[in-house]
Amino acid sequence: MTLRLRLSLSRGFGLLAGCLAFVAVAVAGEVAVAPVVDQSGLPPLGVEVRTNPYRANARAIEVGQSAFNQACARCHGIDANPAGAPAPDLRQLNRYCRRIGEPAVQAACLADNDAYFSKTVANGKTIVGVMHMPPWKNVLSPELVWAIQAFVEARAVAR
Ligand code: HEC
Repeated sequence: MTLRLRLSLSRGFGLLAGCLAFVAVAVAGEVAVAPVVDQSGLPPLGVEVRTNPYRANARAIEVGQSAFNQACARCHGIDANPAGAPAPDLRQLNRYCRRIGEPAVQAACLADNDAYFSKTVANGKTIVGVMHMPPWKNVLSPELVWAIQAFVEARAVAR
């Protein structure tokens, strides 16, 4: 009786350890999966650009929404709505720029924000050895990264 109890307990612990190991692998093995998106109507870029060429472009916002919901939403929330999502609210990224009245200063602020966005998405976020976001370079084309940003900005809320 005692032996059987011990056996089932140890089996139970084995199962628990197995589950924990699986969860750890699932988190550490976060991979960037390319979205499948119809990009027709999105002007190709050809050259590397550092500021968003699609800002407020209606077709880019549509393409960006589809790419975002496939690639980013599981962490940053469906349609960039962060309620219940584990990752930061991307709609707020350029809120400081939006408050600037002087057009030249605002353009410089947006350019800086664009560079931060595309660099962060390309490299992902690994902090003290823990991957918080996988890198997206070689997974997303620059066109899709800018389209995603155009979509996120279109979802920005006034604050
Ligand atoms: C596996 C979850 C996950 C996925 C998928 C993901 N992200 Fe992230 N992302 C995070 C986390 C977590 C952070 C915050 C990292 C930190 O600084 O602690 C972050 C941060 C960012 C930041 C910087 C935000 C800031 O406030 O500085 C940007 C920009 C970003 N993500 C864009 C994207 C885009 C675009 C996609 C889709 C192509 C995406 N992310 C997909 C988890 C994810």
